[in-house]
Amino acid sequence: MFPERFNAIRGLDPGVLCSLLARSSRMKSDPGSFSTILKGKTVLQFFVENSTRTRLSFESATRRLGGMSLAFSPSSSSLSKGETLADTVNVIRQYGVDGIVVRHRSMGAPDFLADATGLPVINAGDGAHEHPTQALLDAFTLGECWGVDFSKAGAFRNRKIMILGDLRHSRVARSNIHLLTALGAELHLCAPATLGIPDLGLFPRVHVHSFPDEGIPEMDAVMTLRLQTERQNQGVIPSLPEYREFWGLTVERAKRMKTDSVILHPGPVNRGVEIDSEVADSGRSLILKQVENGIFARMAVLASVVGRMDS
Ligand code: CP
Repeated sequence: MFPERFNAIRGLDPGVLCSLLARSSRMKSDPGSFSTILKGKTVLQFFVENSTRTRLSFESATRRLGGMSLAFSPSSSSLSKGETLADTVNVIRQYGVDGIVVRHRSMGAPDFLADATGLPVINAGDGAHEHPTQALLDAFTLGECWGVDFSKAGAFRNRKIMILGDLRHSRVARSNIHLLTALGAELHLCAPATLGIPDLGLFPRVHVHSFPDEGIPEMDAVMTLRLQTERQNQGVIPSLPEYREFWGLTVERAKRMKTDSVILHPGPVNRGVEIDSEVADSGRSLILKQVENGIFARMAVLASVVGRMDS
């Protein structure tokens, strides 16, 4: 049986991850077969940090599985009057909630809520820790593009993927490092020295680059990350134009990629900073496909964690 919480990719068995990816694919090809998995169930969408894609896709996924969403708006809630996180959620539980999707600025908030409530919990992004459903939809999108079979081990063997940009503050990067290496990909990380991951020893082996140009021509995919200026101290990068020049996925840099290589970005995009508009909107960009596939990856996770669906 699937665990009652999906808070991190780290520590999950590759077989579990592959079955979630295969299930995402089934959700996309035959959505009608899963339309009652959450019938009679209510999922609390507990977003205490801003979100567009993750929140809308979890709400849509809940509805497509026949469940009901209860939305939570932090600015108009009693959290703003000093109520604690645990008290707030325990109040909400009295309305008959069967599972919680949580986004929070603090690392570990999803595990805290799971322990405090005993309810199934799904992490929709906690601080700079993990964003496991984003990694799932990213891998699903790449697998779909490359036509891989997730039921076979090592689906991404012989694939080279670079994650480029503000790695330090990126929960997306942390989840993807675990997932993409579990699928057999050769992973390359590239960031300015001030924006690398400080605790790389906790991760599987990866290749590290200071600048993207040496690795980019060999990559099958480049995932560029949002520069998270709201989480940075001043002086971390010289200036936005210099960041773009040295680490941005510019039109010139994209020309050096293999003809069949693809580009991902989890969004939201800072156009003209980490990626040029022409590149983000080009034929090799999977950015909107990632958004679309987020619904199916989240359906797979909701069905497993809240719907208790067997494989
Ligand atoms: N990728 C991502 O988490 O986007 P949102 O912040 O819009 O949910």
